[in-house]
Amino acid sequence: MQKEAFLAGEGDAWFQRNHAALGLQTAVRLRPLQLFLPYLAPGDEALEIGCADGSNLAALARQCGVRGCGVDPSRQAIEAGKRKYPMLDLRQGTAEALPFDEGRFKLVWFGFCLYLLDRSELMRAIAEADRVCAEGGFIAITDFDPVLPCRRPYHHRPGLFSWKMDYSRLFLANPAYVLVAKASYGHGAETFHPDPGERIATWLLHKSLAHAYFPEEEQR
Ligand SMILES: C[S@@+](CC[C@H](N)C(=O)[O-])C[C@H]1O[C@@H](n2cnc3c(N)ncnc32)[C@H](O)[C@@H]1O
Repeated sequence: MQKEAFLAGEGDAWFQRNHAALGLQTAVRLRPLQLFLPYLAPGDEALEIGCADGSNLAALARQCGVRGCGVDPSRQAIEAGKRKYPMLDLRQGTAEALPFDEGRFKLVWFGFCLYLLDRSELMRAIAEADRVCAEGGFIAITDFDPVLPCRRPYHHRPGLFSWKMDYSRLFLANPAYVLVAKASYGHGAETFHPDPGERIATWLLHKSLAHAYFPEEEQR
């Protein structure tokens, strides 16, 4: 499975190719944080799934005082992150089985990793994020922003794939989730990119079971 490939070394390979750029506070890297900041307060807990070395989480923690937790299959990324950012709780693991208690996080952020998940386990990852997200909390997704779902070979390793689609729809089918904000931009610029092949986005969703269902008698 693709998950095993990332645990066994593909995650490390990604980290080796990209680690130099991870700490750079570019406009594109800061774009998701701008969406989250109005809703977070010092002491809130935030989880990034697919966090690499935790650089994004560290930037978020610096900006608003959240306590950051992160999960990534790359052992090298997690070990490097623990040395660099000792205030973060970083763990080797994957989106499909999160090592955290139910309802713990104010923000659960898929940090550009859903496109890599095995299709047979995608819904398990969605359920795991829902499980650890607090009532009244937020789910965020940073990923590709295509017009239609599409699949292409992962060009760093034959046999693996990346899958592009609007992952927010998997949450928004549930009335407990509403869309708070979406920022659509490009890999190289924080402004909208007209080419859907180059477009990425961050979606921010609010979770409230309390507001999800109207009593039927009030609708008559
Ligand atoms: C494109 S990188 C994004 C890293 C970081 N969030 C960022 O924005 O710089 C994708 C990350 O997802 C991780 N990943 C791959 N499969 C995963 C899985 N099943 N669960 C969680 N993370 C995964 C990879 O190891 C990699 O660090």
